[in-house]
Amino acid sequence: MTSDFFAIDGRVMPAADAVLPVLDLGFLRGLGAFETFRTYGGHPHALPAHLDRLWGTAALFGVAPCFTDADLRRVVARILELSGHDEVRVNLVVSPGDHTSGVFGAEKPRWVVIARDLHAPPEAWYERGVTATTFRGERPSVHHKTTNYLCGRTGLQAAEVTGAHEAFYLNAADEVTEGVTSNILARFGTTIRTPITTCLPGITKAGLKPLAEAEGLRWEEGPLPRADLFTADELWITSAVREILSVVAVDGQPIGAGTVGPWAKRLRIVYQADAIASAARDAKN
Ligand SMILES: Cc1ncc(COP(=O)(O)O)c(C=O)c1O
Repeated sequence: MTSDFFAIDGRVMPAADAVLPVLDLGFLRGLGAFETFRTYGGHPHALPAHLDRLWGTAALFGVAPCFTDADLRRVVARILELSGHDEVRVNLVVSPGDHTSGVFGAEKPRWVVIARDLHAPPEAWYERGVTATTFRGERPSVHHKTTNYLCGRTGLQAAEVTGAHEAFYLNAADEVTEGVTSNILARFGTTIRTPITTCLPGITKAGLKPLAEAEGLRWEEGPLPRADLFTADELWITSAVREILSVVAVDGQPIGAGTVGPWAKRLRIVYQADAIASAARDAKN
C-alpha cells in the first residue's frame, strides 16, 4: 500500500495534514518560487541545480536560502520510506511565509515539499510523439520559475481543446520561446537549436547539452522563429519528468516526417543513463 506524505518546513506529515495558513503570502500575493524534480533510484536528480534556480527565484521577493541540500534530501528520503513509492516527482515551493504587516511584510519564509508517486509519462508519448500549438505571450520573470502560470494557462487551455499536449509561447518577433512547462529544442541535421535568453534556463536541457555534444551533435543557442520549426528534422520538449519528448506536429502542421525521430530515442536513452548515475553519485557526496 502506498500513500502520500508531504512536508512543511522540513516536517513530514500525511498529505491530508499538510495545510497552510490563509495568511501565507504565496496565497495572498502570489509570491512563490518553485521547482519540480524527480528521483532516479530513489535519489533526487540534479538537486544542486534545482536549488540554485530556486534561490535565484526566491531572491526576487527577498527570500534567502532557508534550508540546505541535506535538509531536502532527508525529507525526500523520509517521504520515500513512509509513502512506499519507488520514485517520486517533487514539487518544492518556497513562499515568504505568513503576512505580518504592510503589503508584503513577512518574517519567516516557508518551504513545502509535495512528493507524489512519479507516474512517469506513458510510453506511447515517446513512441508516437505529442503535438503542440502556439499562442501569443511572454512569461513574466522569464528566467525564473515562479508559481505564477496565469499567462501559460490561457495557452495550455487552448492547446488542450485541440488535443495538443503543450503550448508554445510566441513572442512579438514570431519566435517560439518556451513551452508552458517545458523548453523547446529543434534538430536541423546535426545541429540542435534552442532559445536561451527568452526562456527558463531548463535543468533538463542543460543536462542534455554535454550528452548531445558527446554524441556528435552541435549545440546552438539562439532564437527559433516559428517558421523554422517546419524545416526542422525533429522537435523536442524537455522537462524534469518528461525528460526528452518529441513534438511531431505544431498548430496541425507536421514537423519533419511527422513521427518520432531517431535522435529523440537515442538522446532519451543517454539522458536516462546519465540521470540514474548522477543522482546516485550526488547522493553519496
Ligand atoms: C516555463 C518552463 N520552462 C521549462 C521547464 C523545464 O525545466 P526543467 O528542465 O528544469 O524541468 C519548465 C518546467 O516546469 C517550465 O515551467
